[in-house]
Amino acid sequence: MLTAGGDCPGLNAVIRAVTRSATAGGDEAVGIMRGYRGLAESDYMKLDQRAVSGILPLGGTILRTSSFEPLAENAVEAVATAFERDGLDAVIAIGGEHTMEITRMLHDEHGLPLIGVPKTIDNDIVGTDFTFGFDTAVHVVMEAIDRLHTTAQSHDRVMVVEVMGRNAGWIALYGGLAGGADGIVIPEVDTTCEELAKAVTQRHDRGKDFSIIVVAEGANLAFASGEVRHVRVNEETDEYGYERLGGIGAALSKELERMTGYEARNVVLGHIQRGGSPTAHDRILATRYGAQAYELAAAREFGRMVALHGSEITSVQLSDVRGIKTVDLELLEIAKRFFA
Ligand code: F6P
Repeated sequence: MLTAGGDCPGLNAVIRAVTRSATAGGDEAVGIMRGYRGLAESDYMKLDQRAVSGILPLGGTILRTSSFEPLAENAVEAVATAFERDGLDAVIAIGGEHTMEITRMLHDEHGLPLIGVPKTIDNDIVGTDFTFGFDTAVHVVMEAIDRLHTTAQSHDRVMVVEVMGRNAGWIALYGGLAGGADGIVIPEVDTTCEELAKAVTQRHDRGKDFSIIVVAEGANLAFASGEVRHVRVNEETDEYGYERLGGIGAALSKELERMTGYEARNVVLGHIQRGGSPTAHDRILATRYGAQAYELAAAREFGRMVALHGSEITSVQLSDVRGIKTVDLELLEIAKRFFA
């Protein structure tokens, strides 16, 4: 198995579950180092009961990770020949949307025996209800909001909390709901600064001299005039060509201060949301995904991604995993009942 793309809490729980399932099934598990790079370069780690002992509560990944792209690196041949060269029967690729796309391409176009396991704190992968890592990130946001309440209240301040999630508002919406935010801004809906300023002012009018506004890093800065600004810290893109997000929290807090006259501060939670020990929910989900991925490998059902549908663990065709999964807007409507 390999882990690719950004890390997230629960990766080690999958590695442990696949290893223990394989050992119990009479198979041998091998860890491929740094994503698809390890497959191209035959860089492996032996995985047995001892190697995975004690890793369940650990964040990150013992296999390390990378954004190595076989196609872009001219390494499809090196990856394809690894199976025969190194005696591999199947590879379980644990990764995000981009890794699922690479895995689909290598399976569908090159016939490689691959299975996908969806991971990301963003919870934006199509085909599954939830990804592991998301619940842990939401807990971090909730805890941060709980802490910010006391300081915001003491200083009569507006605190704008910028959270991760790329172009989906899952972390902002769930974290904001769990923390009792007074405003939640997500990429799926352009909430105007004027609407937010009005809610903050209404709170002050009824004696609540502080407000907590959660904003997703991918959200826009929108105005009642119809102007929508796509705020970014810089023009950089990451290894996959995605925009580097960030900066909306600072821009929004400035606008809210200007419009309401109340002091506003910006807090960027950043990679703290991705680090540390997974929650019980993520450990269990990751373990169930790992066990299911092994079952698929043992049954030679390749080209599939394990998935959670309701409370059931199942799998979907990798070819059906396209685009990004955005939030359920009904939940935003419920959250709105607590604003202002
Ligand atoms: O996809 C997970 C994620 O943490 C996003 O929420 C965020 O935009 C991005 O990765 C950050 O990427 P990097 O670790 O490359 O800065």
